[in-house]
Amino acid sequence: MIQKPKGTKDILPNETYKWEYVEENTKEILKNYGFGEIRVPVFEQTELFERGVGDTTDVVQKEMYTFLDKGERSITLRPEGTAGVVRAYIENGMASMPSPIKMWYMMPMYRYENVQKGRYREFRQIGAEILGTNSYEADVELIVMADQIIKKFHVPEVSLNLNSIGCPTCRKQYTEVLKGFIGNNLAQYCSTCQTRFEKNPMRILDCKEKKCKELNQGAPIILDYLCEECKTHFENVKKALEQLDINYVIDPNIVRGLDYYTKTVFEFVSEKEGYTVLAGGRYDGLVEELGGQKTGAIGFAMGEDRLIDIFEKYNTSSTITARTPDLYIASMGEIASKKAQILALELRKSGIYVETDICERSMKANLKYADKIKSKYVCVIGEDEINTGKAKLKNMATGEEQETELKTDAIIEIL
Ligand code: HAM
Repeated sequence: MIQKPKGTKDILPNETYKWEYVEENTKEILKNYGFGEIRVPVFEQTELFERGVGDTTDVVQKEMYTFLDKGERSITLRPEGTAGVVRAYIENGMASMPSPIKMWYMMPMYRYENVQKGRYREFRQIGAEILGTNSYEADVELIVMADQIIKKFHVPEVSLNLNSIGCPTCRKQYTEVLKGFIGNNLAQYCSTCQTRFEKNPMRILDCKEKKCKELNQGAPIILDYLCEECKTHFENVKKALEQLDINYVIDPNIVRGLDYYTKTVFEFVSEKEGYTVLAGGRYDGLVEELGGQKTGAIGFAMGEDRLIDIFEKYNTSSTITARTPDLYIASMGEIASKKAQILALELRKSGIYVETDICERSMKANLKYADKIKSKYVCVIGEDEINTGKAKLKNMATGEEQETELKTDAIIEIL
């Protein structure tokens, strides 16, 4: 039997209701903050991610699904959404539209990862991006919206961790200090970290190798080296979050795995599972890096697979369930079967969820099936019912039966 590729999953019809629930509720919040949906290609030119995400990141160095197409172009399945959205922003001249531009997306992403709990090779993100503002107030609005989304699903023990990783100005001095720290033990770091030392030493702080993590203990933190502008920006963000009663924890170890970040970065972490559910930050240099004008921007992406995992395990709100039929119509004989089909059609047109036999089952098998699919009501139509034009609707939860005319309106009144 051919099996699905490692790190992917099938989401079956009896599970999709959870995904729909998360997507619909998230979409509603995004719309209330003025975000419009953007859809970009599943694959892009590889160069977009090399330049956008950064060629010294794990994502680009180790995790991309890259191939040559039949025209010998290097193509990559998107590992994340921001680079594609920014490309679309530049390519479609969106800078000339009323600013800021607020966009959301719901898209599958592809990363060749070590598969483990909460880490897949195909996973879904719901993301939000604001382009065209440098103001700290955009950071605040976006973080508040992320907080509202997370809270909507009533999952306990998800903490908001916050940091600032400064701008190219403050990073200059910090990089020198960091190189001094790492340089003492450089030979003991993994080979990837050694190649990153000259090009991008901050990336070494994001290495997942155990040995490198140990060596990084006690490394200088960028918060101590922020320039005046970055410091003020960060102070303003923190103050505004406090005024809005948004709890956060400062985590100076957040460096993020993608190169485009500047200033504010944040992660919503599930303490129970030990992984990040939603993460993002400001990326003021990315539009320019990809060929546009200098543009302030900030965004986040939520890992939908992870959110659903913790929602299923821990949510404290009323449990959601898959929709079950309002009515199952079982029939005996050809005339009754026709009547069942006509009634089912009329009721469905009125928005009622109706099931009827399409497997030529016996009456006994029909009733067993109606029970299995948890139909709320069952109606049996045979010769008598056709002759009298009346039938009984049985409430499957209480066992109570009610007589009704075999007419759409009369049935709807009971359901
Ligand atoms: P990221 O931190 O790489 O950021 O991913 C965001 C979220 O996607 C993670 O916090 C996690 O919940 C989920 N995620 C990432 N990798 C996996 C995986 N292998 N399996 C399951 N879930 C995963 C970004 O992608 C940025 N583009 C976010 C952003 C938008 N920053 C600014 N704008």
